[in-house]
Amino acid sequence: MSDRKKLFIKTYGCQMNVYDSERMAASLDKAGYDQTDEVAEADMVLLNTCHIREKAAEKVYSELGRIKELRVAKPDLKIGVAGCVAQAEGEEIVRRQPAVDLVVGPQAYHNLPAMLDALKPGKPVINTDFPAEDKFDHLPDDRRARRAPSAFLTVQEGCDKFCAFCVVPYTRGAEVSRPVARILSEAKDLVSRGVAEITLLGQNVNAYHGEGPDGEMGLAALIRALAEIEGLERIRFTTSHPNDMEDDLIAAHGEIDKLMPYLHLPVQSGSDSVLKAMNRKHTAESYFTLIERIRAARPDIALSGDFIVGFPGETEADFQATLDLVERVEYAQAFSFKYSARPGTPAADREEVPEDVKSERLARLQALLLQQQRAFQESVVGRVLPVLLEKPGRKDGQLIGKSPYLQAVHLDAAPELIGTIQQVRIVSSKSNSLSGELMG
Ligand code: 5AD
Ligand code: SF4
Repeated sequence: MSDRKKLFIKTYGCQMNVYDSERMAASLDKAGYDQTDEVAEADMVLLNTCHIREKAAEKVYSELGRIKELRVAKPDLKIGVAGCVAQAEGEEIVRRQPAVDLVVGPQAYHNLPAMLDALKPGKPVINTDFPAEDKFDHLPDDRRARRAPSAFLTVQEGCDKFCAFCVVPYTRGAEVSRPVARILSEAKDLVSRGVAEITLLGQNVNAYHGEGPDGEMGLAALIRALAEIEGLERIRFTTSHPNDMEDDLIAAHGEIDKLMPYLHLPVQSGSDSVLKAMNRKHTAESYFTLIERIRAARPDIALSGDFIVGFPGETEADFQATLDLVERVEYAQAFSFKYSARPGTPAADREEVPEDVKSERLARLQALLLQQQRAFQESVVGRVLPVLLEKPGRKDGQLIGKSPYLQAVHLDAAPELIGTIQQVRIVSSKSNSLSGELMG
């Protein structure tokens, strides 16, 4: 019988966490753990948590309460909490839920195997340090496994912007960029394992300023270097702050074919007084001017954004300004949230907009955004688009791929085509996906 154990990871939140979960699984693979989708058969359960939205910590504690029950059948079950709630709560987690063995912050994942070795019954191990070194230096050297055609690659972590509502600067710490050479070698490795599309990740990815061979390089220069890699067909990046959209990055959208015409550029609000209270350090007009410059460089670019409604002090007129901005920009995709206070952030002490007002505003904003999303989906029907075929669809003989504009496309195609880019005629649009036909 194999003495390998089973690891169940539940991932919450952003793509950064998806990426980190993959890396944690890879490092625990070396410590004798195979991943499972069945929590009941796990020898270790890891919750990779997100702290960005409401009651995140409370949800983690109630999930931990349920997981603890699995110890009845499996007394040796190890329970770990990773991610931003781990970083924010630290020792508080084991005080409130003594069943937890491991608490590990996002900067300490490379220590997981050592933390496991250090575990003794009744003695939890906690590591939420922010070391100066690159946590990705410690990645296991696993060059064998083939990968799905699309992969994430973290290039930057943390944020120095301190938007008044946001926990990221506290949970992920100050902005740190990985050196260019390391990113290029990880990208080449991914490509050698079948990856055709890489999405560069960072909480503030366009503030990237990593050490290059001849001094610091910004995101545009990094993308240019990545575009030289043969076999890497598509490059994307997320998430960006408007104030870090430098000229060369805007120009790159018109000049680098491999850089996909899709940009996630959160604005949060269309009201200058709310933007000021949020400490965003840009105005609605400066955002709109920026959008015009980006569209001048790449006219077909699909734009995506994040919005918060009901930020403390937001009036009906402020909210209307958000609707006006959305009308002007015309988004292809968007994410919108009701404001929720995050303890420890500057806005947390301010007087809140009543819940029913927030809900009503969110519904109005989402109706407008949905209308724009539908219009964008419809606008590609009849066009022939290059689609990266990524995985089998639900039905036999069907594959799912992605258009340059990050739209899911369903089509009939042979599984051997997975990993290739094919010309596809888009024949119809449903709410969340497109249907297409391979061009013969
Ligand atoms: N309340 C509501 N939404 C928030 N976001 C971040 N913090 C909060 C908060 N306290 C949203 C922002 C951000 C996205 C990732 O989550 O819109 O861009
Ligand atoms: Fe949070 Fe983004 Fe603002 Fe940074 S720029 S504080 S990550 S919302």
